[in-house]
Amino acid sequence: MTTEKTDALPSEMRPERYIEKVNLATNEVISDPIAPRHLLVHSHRDYHFVDVQARFMMSRIVKATGDEEEARRRMKRVRARGRRTSRVLARMIGQRDPERVSQTLFGLKDREYYFRYKKQVLTKEEIDEILERLKAEAGAKLAAVTENGQPRIRVLLTGGTGFVGKEIMWQAAHDEDIAEIVVLIRPKAIRDRETKEVVKTLSPTERGEALLPQLWLDRPEERAKFRFIAGDVEEPNLGISETDHELLKSRVTHVIHCAASVAFDDPYEKSFRANVTGTLNALAFSKTLQDAPGSPFVAHLGIETSYIHGRQTKQAAREDEIVFPRNFYNNFYELTKAMASIETERFMLTEGLRIVQLCPAIVIGDSAAGNNRGDTKVVNAPVNLFGRAGSSLRSSSGRWVDRSKASMLARLAFIFPGDPSAQINMIPVDRVVAGIVAALKLPQAIGERIHLANDNRVTSAQIRDIVAEELGVKVKLAEPTIHRTVTLPLLKKLLKRLQQERLAHVLDRLGTIFGGYSEWGQPVHEVGNDVRILGLPEKRPNAEQAFRMLCRHNRYVQDFGKVKDLDEISRRERLWLEFVRDLEQRHEQPVGAIAPEAFRSALTESLNTETFEPLRSLKNPLADGGPSPLQT
Ligand SMILES: NC(=O)c1ccc[n+]([C@@H]2O[C@H](COP(=O)([O-])OP(=O)(O)OC[C@H]3O[C@@H](n4cnc5c(N)ncnc54)[C@H](OP(=O)(O)O)[C@@H]3O)[C@@H](O)[C@H]2O)c1
Repeated sequence: MTTEKTDALPSEMRPERYIEKVNLATNEVISDPIAPRHLLVHSHRDYHFVDVQARFMMSRIVKATGDEEEARRRMKRVRARGRRTSRVLARMIGQRDPERVSQTLFGLKDREYYFRYKKQVLTKEEIDEILERLKAEAGAKLAAVTENGQPRIRVLLTGGTGFVGKEIMWQAAHDEDIAEIVVLIRPKAIRDRETKEVVKTLSPTERGEALLPQLWLDRPEERAKFRFIAGDVEEPNLGISETDHELLKSRVTHVIHCAASVAFDDPYEKSFRANVTGTLNALAFSKTLQDAPGSPFVAHLGIETSYIHGRQTKQAAREDEIVFPRNFYNNFYELTKAMASIETERFMLTEGLRIVQLCPAIVIGDSAAGNNRGDTKVVNAPVNLFGRAGSSLRSSSGRWVDRSKASMLARLAFIFPGDPSAQINMIPVDRVVAGIVAALKLPQAIGERIHLANDNRVTSAQIRDIVAEELGVKVKLAEPTIHRTVTLPLLKKLLKRLQQERLAHVLDRLGTIFGGYSEWGQPVHEVGNDVRILGLPEKRPNAEQAFRMLCRHNRYVQDFGKVKDLDEISRRERLWLEFVRDLEQRHEQPVGAIAPEAFRSALTESLNTETFEPLRSLKNPLADGGPSPLQT
């Protein structure tokens, strides 16, 4: 998963392009090569038995006091005591280097360096001047495409086939200021499940045309807004043909660059190519549009993530600056998105491209119904695993031995690493995309980095409790350090012996991929620009209710990821939304606020959850098109 040899990396991929290693004592830059893995949290822990113990202790202190700073203070005192003891012991045994004693005995490894992002060469005054100019230019450009007070926005969108991109297409389709959406899509190879051979390749147009009915965009006037072009963000010029490029130069007012690889376990090079090279290609492409003679181009919107701040713990992760996180990054996805953000800022200031940077937190299904159009990534992955394990536990039949084995395996799947107090920042997709669409129309957003994050976070303990209420499974939160270093390796051995390699692999993957997000010391993402600059409602979505709806949706609509056919998901989600809106009206409150029992009985009265057919007529069936059901 990691790149060991930094000299094997092409120079443009090396972390030194962005990051420098600095001597803590002298503050001088150390010119050693930087291995990508050294920028991840995994590289800096669990190297010694005592370190494991110390982390376990800190976790206990946080659990007992709820005070993360207190845990850090106490640990600092313990380390100082360890160091004093090492000096005494070194003298006693005649060891000249007390560092060696403290490392061997106590695992006290003092880092003599720290990492930081390379500094901007421009002064604050110079930056302010550039941004003022870019905002003014964007204002003039937007005015030039505005007729009778209505902008005529024409967007080039990358990543339209993804989770966030689909919601962008949906909201854009219902936005009267948006006249056209050109979606860049790459071809998709369909492989035989058994042999993995490519049996067919779907063209970008085929993929786009299949997408429209799945998004309930069937009416001719809705379809007429969309055009699909072939491209690949990893290719120079986004892999767009010359003919398409020429046409786009004369039409496109905005580029929304949303394509990325959102895989938390991709190796560095793969993440880099999709997230950094892809971003550089998109920026260069937008610049050709902006510079074209007579160009209507207004702005480039870069979709980033608020987790570009990694595990920043010292202070809240600010919107106006990016610092190298004190506790490193969880994975190469976060690291390469941070590098892409730095490239974006650099490009804006040096090349004069008009840019808005939008940084969503962890995006989940829409706030009212939990609809996610078939997404199974990120938070959905553990929820679906718990759900499937719960179902198998309830339905296990056959011999007693088999039932006991199934029951034991399912129970193992319920052990998840997490500190009860860890706070996770989840934000529903409708709020994220409302921010993206608003940014298209606001020249004052140029030059800003805007967190599309939540101010009410959900703790691991709340997640565990909601999962118990909604899925009927009791997840056991295991102390993360002990889970990582002791429980998981033992579990894997046991499962392999029981010939359950697949479950062992899934548990290992989930634990390593998502464990980092449920440990204490999570970053706090500052918010405010979403309201101040983009004009979004001050009241952000209720994350606890949205997570509850995610569980309900994934259980009944997705059957915990087992329903994979996107046409079927689309049919189910439509009915689900009608049911949710009907229930919301009858109860006069958001469905996420309705207690689990009342919700389940309303559901079984209204829908056959096996066939997903209505059992009674629902009020307000969704008309084709019309105002966004997710925005009303
Ligand atoms: N989901 C989250 O929780 C979350 C949180 C914060 C920020 N974000 C950001 O939001 C954006 C969208 O995320 P998402 O959740 O929608 O991801 P997603 O569902 O995985 O979709 C990724 C999209 O990018 C496209 N793509 C990837 N590589 C490409 C390439 N080389 N050429 C052309 N298209 C390519 C994919 O196309 P294919 O269909 O061809 O694969 C797909 O349309 C990303 O920038 C991500 O970093 C997401």
